[in-house]
Amino acid sequence: MSQVIEYEKEGDIAVLSANNPPVNALGVEVRRGLMDGIERAETEGVRAVLIYGRGRTYFAGADIREFGKPPQDPWLPAICDRIEASPLLVVSALHGTALGGGLEVALSCHYRIAVPSTKIGLPEVNLGIIPGAGGTQRLPRVAGVTAALDVITTGRHVQAPEALEMGVLDKVQDGDPREIGLAYARELLAVKAPRRPICDMAKPTPIDFDAAYDAVLRKGRGQLSPAIAVRAVQASCEADDFTAGQARERELFTQLMASDQRKGLIHAFFAERAVSKLPELQGVRPRDLHQIGVIGGGTMGAGIATSALLAGLPVLLLEMSSEAASAAQDRIASNLAGAVKRGKLSPDDQADILRNKLSLAVDYDALSGVDLVIEAVFENMEVKKQVFARLDAVCKKGAILATNTSYLDINEIAQSVSRPHDVVGLHFFSPAHVMKLLEIVVADHTSPEVVATGFALGKRLGKVSVRAGVCDGFIGNRILSAYRTCADHMVLDGASPFQIDVALTRFGFAMGPFAMSDLAGLDIGWAARKRKRAAGQDPRARDSIYADKLCEAGHFGQKTGRGYYVYEKGKRGGQPNPDVLPLIEADRAAQGISPRTFSDEEIVRRYMVAMVNEAARVVGDGVARRPLDVDVTLLYGYGFPRYMGGPLKWSDLQGLPNVLDDIRKWSEQDAYFWQPAPLLVKLEAEDRCFDDLNKER
Ligand code: 3HC
Ligand code: NAI
Repeated sequence: MSQVIEYEKEGDIAVLSANNPPVNALGVEVRRGLMDGIERAETEGVRAVLIYGRGRTYFAGADIREFGKPPQDPWLPAICDRIEASPLLVVSALHGTALGGGLEVALSCHYRIAVPSTKIGLPEVNLGIIPGAGGTQRLPRVAGVTAALDVITTGRHVQAPEALEMGVLDKVQDGDPREIGLAYARELLAVKAPRRPICDMAKPTPIDFDAAYDAVLRKGRGQLSPAIAVRAVQASCEADDFTAGQARERELFTQLMASDQRKGLIHAFFAERAVSKLPELQGVRPRDLHQIGVIGGGTMGAGIATSALLAGLPVLLLEMSSEAASAAQDRIASNLAGAVKRGKLSPDDQADILRNKLSLAVDYDALSGVDLVIEAVFENMEVKKQVFARLDAVCKKGAILATNTSYLDINEIAQSVSRPHDVVGLHFFSPAHVMKLLEIVVADHTSPEVVATGFALGKRLGKVSVRAGVCDGFIGNRILSAYRTCADHMVLDGASPFQIDVALTRFGFAMGPFAMSDLAGLDIGWAARKRKRAAGQDPRARDSIYADKLCEAGHFGQKTGRGYYVYEKGKRGGQPNPDVLPLIEADRAAQGISPRTFSDEEIVRRYMVAMVNEAARVVGDGVARRPLDVDVTLLYGYGFPRYMGGPLKWSDLQGLPNVLDDIRKWSEQDAYFWQPAPLLVKLEAEDRCFDDLNKER
């Protein structure tokens, strides 16, 4: 018998238990074990079969690591059909997460019982595919088309009580899965419950599938799998019979399995799990965190404090004056109220946090007991150095001193303290209690223990943490500067900011770069441009002043109601600001540029290639350890479409030599901006791609 599926007899019930940690994925050995187990049970004179998972969960799905490789028999659809067709009564007992192929196995059983904490779901669309083992045919038959479409097209996890209401589960009961499963099987045998194959149930009632398809496609911003899933569910109503419906599901599944979107999404799945696995942190124990300090309660400080408070971590927030502290408290209270509104926090917990978990201070001595402090004061080196010197004087030995700076040199900040090994960058993204990305910026002297504590904090706050090295802008903002510069060049040469934003949102970005600047505040870019000009720019670098003119007139984007767009209170989004194009035209005229037209395709291509080129430099310089660290940063911090996997996965899928060809072609017009990154040239010469580096490092 297979190692991963154990077979036992309990009276007249055969018990098949899965033992394939960590998540009982349905790899080939598990599939073989299930097939053998069912066949053996049928020859051993038992009356029922119980299937359950040992360890933390029932089957959490097909084994994703097998995707893209040649399929191995037996296939999951065949297993499901075989289980369903068994003359024995087949029962599944669920716990943990019964997802994807796991739920499909459960749906092929005749009865399903689950412990109350179980979550079920068909999350295949999040991997760029659709359920491929009958899920799109069986779920609508038991739960109806509307509920099935909701579950399948969103991929959401459904809690056991809701699944019971939907008809997906027959019973929910506390206890050990094996024990409740055996008791339920005995109960069913005692009442002579009939076998109940879902494939024999009547076809579900159809809905307007074309309307559902259009709605899901729109919502997916270019992601295909949820829309294709609608067509598969449609087949459950319209195909001649269950088998024909299954054949349609398989056809659509196979199509998606070969798609770049599937490759991008699966890359994202593994990349976001790989970012926190760093060899230098193996065996390193993070420091304990009981209370954290936050310096500055503006946009970021208040967001960071909220994030920690929502994770149950007490916060001491220090501001410059009691008025500023009270304004910070109001910001935090408003963030918490938002969490209550979204159902993420109860009103009682909100009151408790504000009363007991948040403390305010204006005196640095109050910080003597905190285990970690995150500075989020103005973006000014002198101010930051002063803050760090004061922290050094008051914080206890072993306290971690972190900065949330966006661009500044953390090595220079670390020079202002006597314990540079305790200094680290913890770069949150705005709004900090919502955005999932955390860049953990490791300076020259940061100790591994401090880095490990940063990752542990990120996990506690529900963030996806990426290790970055010190440079101007770390991973994300440094790459952003490059592709934003590319967008500015296209504007000078003839594209409008509005065309660029539309082209990029159509491509799949959550926002275009100009709408994004309005959101972040145009003053940030203005300050960066002034800093660069003051430091002395290379004479070959192109510059533009139209954006400065907007700022000089006091237009900083959303916060002032006017930037590239004009924002009206109470309305979502903005309308193009009519002042912008004349400013651009004046800039072009002053620089003697004759504008040309850009196709949306060229806009997207230049923007993406600029992003890849800088990303390759970031990896080449060691600021990002692996290409996948860049991909995760852009996915979680910059609205990069997840189904493309990140810029460097996109580059691999485009073919690295093609990307390099474009850079070389464009460098004929602007040899300064379009210098190929050395890593791109090296990989091309070695006939390798970014994914090869991911596997090596
Ligand atoms: N296949 C292979 N490995 C898997 C896996 C799967 N389906 N699901 C999780 N893993 C691995 C993870 O990569 C991770 O490995 P690592 O320790 O080496 O990094 C390990 O299991 C633990 O996973 P998590 O760190 O994610 O553990 P959590 O407890 O946070 O989450 C989970 C558990 C909710 C099950 C989450 O892992 C998850 O969502 N997994 C994917 C579920 C899924 O998408 N299933 C559908 C697959 S497609 C399918 O079934 C097709 C079918 O219709 C034919
Ligand atoms: P902000 O201007 O909204 O808030 C700064 C706060 O710090 C103010 O409330 C101010 O009173 C307080 N402060 C200033 N000096 C202080 C001192 N010596 N002691 C105590 N409090 C002091 O600025 P914001 O946007 O919150 O930015 C803070 C930091 O976070 C900056 O370094 C910025 O670069 C970084 N950052 C900003 C992001 C954003 O989107 N706004 C994103 C990520 C990082």
